[in-house]
Amino acid sequence: MSPNSSGIIKGEEQKNQGGGINIGAGFGVTGPDISNIVKAKNFGATVKRLIKYLKPQYPMIIVMILLAMIGAWFAIWVPDIMKKVTNALVDSLQFFTNIRPSTDPTNPGNNQLYSYIAPVLLTSGSLYVLNSLFQFMSALIAGITSQKLVCRMRHDVKNKLDKVPLSYFDTTPSGEVLSRFTIDIEMISATIQESINQIITGSMTVVGVTFMMLRIDWLLSIVTLASLPILLLVSSIIVKRSQREFAKQQNRIGELNGFIEEMYSGHQVVKLYNREDESNKIYVKINKELKKATRKAQFLSGIILPSIKFVNNLVYVGICVGGGFRAGSGMITIGDIQALLSYTRQFAQPIENISNIANTIQSSMAAAERVFEVFDLEEMTEEGTTPLVPSECIGEVVFENIAFSYTEDKPLIRDLSLFVNAGEQVAIVGPTGAGKTTLVNLLMRFYELNSGRILIDGVDIRSFSRNDLRDLYGMVLQDTWLFHGTIAENIAYGKPNATRDEIIEAAKKAYAHSFIMLMEDGYDTVLKEGASNISAGQKQLLTIARAILKDPKIIILDEATSSVDTRTEKYVQSAMLNMMEGKTSFVIAHRLSTIRQAAKILVMNDGDIVEIGCHDELMEKEGFYCELYNCQFAGEKDDLFSLEDVGKPGFTQS
Ligand SMILES: Nc1ncnc2c1ncn2[C@@H]1O[C@H](COP(=O)(O)OP(=O)(O)OP(=O)(O)O)[C@@H](O)[C@H]1O
Ligand SMILES: [Mg+2]
Repeated sequence: MSPNSSGIIKGEEQKNQGGGINIGAGFGVTGPDISNIVKAKNFGATVKRLIKYLKPQYPMIIVMILLAMIGAWFAIWVPDIMKKVTNALVDSLQFFTNIRPSTDPTNPGNNQLYSYIAPVLLTSGSLYVLNSLFQFMSALIAGITSQKLVCRMRHDVKNKLDKVPLSYFDTTPSGEVLSRFTIDIEMISATIQESINQIITGSMTVVGVTFMMLRIDWLLSIVTLASLPILLLVSSIIVKRSQREFAKQQNRIGELNGFIEEMYSGHQVVKLYNREDESNKIYVKINKELKKATRKAQFLSGIILPSIKFVNNLVYVGICVGGGFRAGSGMITIGDIQALLSYTRQFAQPIENISNIANTIQSSMAAAERVFEVFDLEEMTEEGTTPLVPSECIGEVVFENIAFSYTEDKPLIRDLSLFVNAGEQVAIVGPTGAGKTTLVNLLMRFYELNSGRILIDGVDIRSFSRNDLRDLYGMVLQDTWLFHGTIAENIAYGKPNATRDEIIEAAKKAYAHSFIMLMEDGYDTVLKEGASNISAGQKQLLTIARAILKDPKIIILDEATSSVDTRTEKYVQSAMLNMMEGKTSFVIAHRLSTIRQAAKILVMNDGDIVEIGCHDELMEKEGFYCELYNCQFAGEKDDLFSLEDVGKPGFTQS
């Protein structure tokens, strides 16, 4: 019954996951305030909602509760039966000095006694067996029920998160999203699995035992009943204190984990700046604090059981003495005393758990509340039905007076209009934060416009189903995203049924083939978590191969070649030029050399298109673009190449 297993600690863990520990710059250690137990904001409403959510599991839960109740009743019954044995033995002692069974057939003696107590003992034994059996079945059903619930809840959370707008993920730390799936749901399931059973068995025991004791002797029952408030008080005081200490301990562990993670992931930086001594000092400090917190927590949780036992033992003695007097005056039998003593022991058991259960339930209701919060998130607007055949789409794109902002108070794009012919290549340039990525995000409908429309082939993108819309695009983004799987699987992500030949073809076009062949297992090389076994440039080449393989109608390249060397960049550009042939494309590039050939160059600044035209026109204009261009090319003109070189003799893949 260590509070370690109680939900509150997990709640704190969860808090840490979401918020992270603030051991920031300068290695200042500032742990979050941990004095509060995570509680549901609206306990009653959450309980109601959870009960409603459990509806599909009602039959199982009812069976589980019935089994637990009946099982508990068997255990309550036994002392009442056993007292008959004691009474019979005591009675027989008045007639026989030797109560061993007689072997003399002529003198049956106390064999009568044995024929009386044997079935009683057998009944008691059977009741205990039944008690275990019912508890076992109840636990089994509890396990099945809670796992069914977990599965359904995870499914529902996943479904819901698929429907919420992307902006939710911008504002919610990924750790928090993750903990909805893991810690929160687990906590709810643990409550269903353990707490319900304990509550049912516990309350059944308290009520049943009270009833049985009152039946035997009301006066002595009162002695036991009087201990109830004392037991509750003692255990709740200690549990509360120990939980505070456990929360502290948990926070120190979180702090230590955060610190270690930060120190070792930033290993080189720590060494580079010679900060090893400082970080060592902080480490020692946190470690010491953890030791202190753990010691206190363990001590407090360790004394709960002895304290309850102590109070219970006092009652035990009280019953013995009081029972002796009552039996002496013939008001109760010896068997009654024995039954009362058994009941006194049984009575204390549920009390030992009650404080913990209360906190577990508090915490899991808080967890349920967080899960329900996800269920209540506003969903993306309805899907369209795609009024045209996506495969026949030619890719004419129109932005019609669009306005957009990520946050209400900070307008980004105020009024932007643009017409892009089918098959046209549009380059988007502009300083960092100008809104280039935002523009393509809007095109893919990752975010909803505040006003205006975006049309593809004259159809509002809101009329498309999201799947059809996104099928039109192939994109290579600033942040490469590769998953844990083979290189071939990663390339085929946009076209899962692609053949190996197609995959190799695409990789060749993306100039990724040669490096893939150098890897141990070629196309079957498994990329590690975060693709840490290949370089940033290689990652980009793979995402380019992925886009080439998908062969989309509209291509979006956001700084697609930012991590490759100039030689590879040249190759890749030639590949991309091939890929873009006849397709509408949006190319975002910081290196202006790479987009000189584009039919249309949009120059963006502060969410607006400030200039538009081809390279020569913009240079002639001597405006913002000209300034950016000259700025970038000053002093480095000779190092750069132009796309006109691509495809000329001497320009081959190595
Ligand atoms: N998810 C987001 N939530 C809130 N604000 C955002 C979000 N993404 C971008 N912004 C803000 O919107 C503005 C435009 O960002 P955007 O990513 O479009 O710039 P960019 O032109 O692509 O810049 P870069 O050249 O650095 O990639 C920036 O001021 C940025 O801080
Ligand atoms: Mg960007």
